[in-house]
Amino acid sequence: MHQDGYSKIIFSFFGPPGSGKGTVAEMCVQGLGFKVLSTGNLFRKHISLGTDFGKLIKDYIDIGKLVPDEFVGNIVLDWLKDAASSGMPIILDGYPRTSGQAEHFFKTFKDFAPDYEFRVIYFIISDEEVIKRLTNRFVCQNKNCQAVYPPFAPAVKKGICDLCGEKIVRRKDDSVEVVKDRLRQYPRYKDDLLSYYKKTDLLVESFDVEGKSIENVFKSFKEDYLNGDSINGIDKE
Ligand code: AP5
Repeated sequence: MHQDGYSKIIFSFFGPPGSGKGTVAEMCVQGLGFKVLSTGNLFRKHISLGTDFGKLIKDYIDIGKLVPDEFVGNIVLDWLKDAASSGMPIILDGYPRTSGQAEHFFKTFKDFAPDYEFRVIYFIISDEEVIKRLTNRFVCQNKNCQAVYPPFAPAVKKGICDLCGEKIVRRKDDSVEVVKDRLRQYPRYKDDLLSYYKKTDLLVESFDVEGKSIENVFKSFKEDYLNGDSINGIDKE
């Protein structure tokens, strides 16, 4: 526990597409002041800015394939250096996603965040629920915002993002075909990563989110996975 009353933890949110990792991560930013890096958001930002890196990875993302490990490289560790200097809890949303990424991360993360503990939260949900959610997901098109909405959100009705006022659109990789393809690939990299964690004796904490509302998922996350009574002085209740 940090002297100011919050824990120095790096949470890795791992789980199938559409399991709500980004939604919980954003609630932790808004409600608890966490620092979050979503590799998916970062990659989409590069694509929309038309950077060389964005051009390199665009086709993988559009068709729902993982970006190869050699392209992911140090991008997360570079970000971590700054984030860890804040002393706040950190969420890596969707990273590491392969044993190669995990191995690379573990080799050096202590150089960037020496006093942080690493924990994996493994989201569990059925394919049926994922398909329902992703084919009904709406996102803000502003590359610096990328807010995510369920279909029943008032912002979706207005077609305008609550946070920045930009247009709300669908993600290209949320078509039924691409979602099914993303789900087909998931077990392969999930098994690879989970066996790596097993081999290295890292405890993976399962988080069953099937059928739970967004509010209940966030409540369970705070109650079941955060250490201590408060995070940065904010009570969990
Ligand atoms: P990324 O953007 O990370 O996609 P993903 O992992 O497939 O996850 P999603 O963003 O689709 O879903 P989520 O779990 O965050 O769910 P969300 O909260 O939005 O990555 C995109 C692509 O980038 C990948 O396919 C890959 O190509 C590449 N990539 C990224 N990281 C990589 C890496 N490390 N290595 C290699 N390649 C990488 O929720 C979904 C919907 O459900 C929303 O509408 C939300 O409002 C709603 N919802 C959320 N919770 C609930 C709930 N409890 N009840 C009802 N609805 C809910």
